[in-house]
Amino acid sequence: MVNYIKYGFRWLNHSKTREGISKTKLEIKKSPKRHEIINFLLSQFNCATNYLEIGVRNPDHNFNKIDADKKYSVDPGVEFKSNPVDFQLTSDAFFEQLEAQKILTPDTLFDVIFIDGLHLAEQVDRDISNAFKFIKPDGFVVLHDCNPPTEWHAREDYYFNMTPAKGHWNGTTWKAFVKWRSNPEVQSCCVDTDWGIGILSKSAAIGSSISISNDFFEYNTFANDRKHYLNLVDFEDLKGFLL
Ligand SMILES: C[S@@+](CC[C@H](N)C(=O)[O-])C[C@H]1O[C@@H](n2cnc3c(N)ncnc32)[C@H](O)[C@@H]1O
Repeated sequence: MVNYIKYGFRWLNHSKTREGISKTKLEIKKSPKRHEIINFLLSQFNCATNYLEIGVRNPDHNFNKIDADKKYSVDPGVEFKSNPVDFQLTSDAFFEQLEAQKILTPDTLFDVIFIDGLHLAEQVDRDISNAFKFIKPDGFVVLHDCNPPTEWHAREDYYFNMTPAKGHWNGTTWKAFVKWRSNPEVQSCCVDTDWGIGILSKSAAIGSSISISNDFFEYNTFANDRKHYLNLVDFEDLKGFLL
């Protein structure tokens, strides 16, 4: 028992734990929130807008705050049992059915697709590829959780939370976003708020592609130069790119 107390005290007092806790607090204080950025992007279109959200959890936290003419939601219901979405499916199953024209109309394209489902790089990479098949030529693919403040926030295991990030989890979404930032056909930036709002576009001048000198996607290499890897900007910069 005494050893557990000693261990717990050392854990709490460790510089990494203190760093994790203080960076979590800083991130939570940042504004604007994701729905404000998504609504700004939707406001750029002079037509009836069509929005898709992949990974919804409690819709009151984001989906219900989105101003679009049509909105669709996809979630298999892992984290929020009532799961009040249009499609109770994984993103893979949803895109498979959309491609096979089993759901929605055959000509369905979206102005903004918000990817916030399973935060593992391989899945996010696939979600981005699929999103680009169903985005309008001037549309935006938006990703949550692109800017993990510490490696503990960027852990692979969502369920293990005895870390300096505690229950906060950005997963390895950053790796998929950085990979897509190296695609010369894609423009991109990441708004430095709400855990990093990554934006990808095939037409808007929001940031040119980069060459990646981090072949193994090491977290510390990324973190030491995150402004470059993410094209980290603030909301005013984003408005300047688009207005
Ligand atoms: C971080 S939450 C989404 C939060 C929400 N977008 C918001 O802004 O408040 C992640 C959601 O992704 C869902 N999810 C997990 N695996 C998924 C998958 N393979 N495809 C789509 N969604 C998934 C979970 O059920 C969970 O509700």
